[in-house]
Amino acid sequence: MRIDVVTIFPDYLAPLSLSLPGKAREKGLLDVRVHDLRDWTHDRHRTVDDTPYGGGAGMVMRPEPWGEALDEVAANRPTLVFTTPSGEPFTQALAKELSTREHLVFACGRYEGIDQRVIEHAASLGEVREVSLGDYVLNGGEVAALAIVEAVVRLLPGFMGNAESLAEESHEDGLLEYPVYTKPASWRGLDVPEVLLSGDHGRIAAWRREQAVRRTAQRRPDLLAPSAVPGGGELK
Ligand code: ADE
Repeated sequence: MRIDVVTIFPDYLAPLSLSLPGKAREKGLLDVRVHDLRDWTHDRHRTVDDTPYGGGAGMVMRPEPWGEALDEVAANRPTLVFTTPSGEPFTQALAKELSTREHLVFACGRYEGIDQRVIEHAASLGEVREVSLGDYVLNGGEVAALAIVEAVVRLLPGFMGNAESLAEESHEDGLLEYPVYTKPASWRGLDVPEVLLSGDHGRIAAWRREQAVRRTAQRRPDLLAPSAVPGGGELK
């Protein structure tokens, strides 16, 4: 997979060469390049933003540097991901979808966002996804891009040693993961649940399922609601 990230803070993306994405790069599964949006400016001050038409607080990113940057970086019909708090929510399902793409281009907005015409233009270069990390506002899209890259890259075929650990983790079956324990069996007066020491795989599976449902009901009842089930309760 090829990943390009366009940002005004390339240093923010330094963690991409560490840890999981770093491992994928070493294995030759991933080619990541980070670009400074200001390289596509032509004025002395390398300006990337301006005041919003219609008034209002903050600054908006100007279309010209973005247009030139994306024309260059997104020449081979990639999927373009704009990280923005007004995007579709990032989920494990979307991570899976993105992990099937050959080439992802991340456009990290700052300030009040990017001039909307850039997103319109980007649709002529490839599939566009506007994606939000969650219902809160970050200072810019860089942290969101990092999180999305990490979630996507660990799904690349050949990346994870143990496919089972992918299948059992939170969100894989629409539930939060059950609690996990390791040795010692007793620690500071706290014991590992007896069932896990029983060797009875049927009982263990049933216990884990029950714990996952209980945890999900407590922490994320929205995941158990009819609308969370594929095809159920959705607006048609
Ligand atoms: N930029 C600022 N806030 C964001 C969010 N919640 N998700 C994605 N990009 C963002």
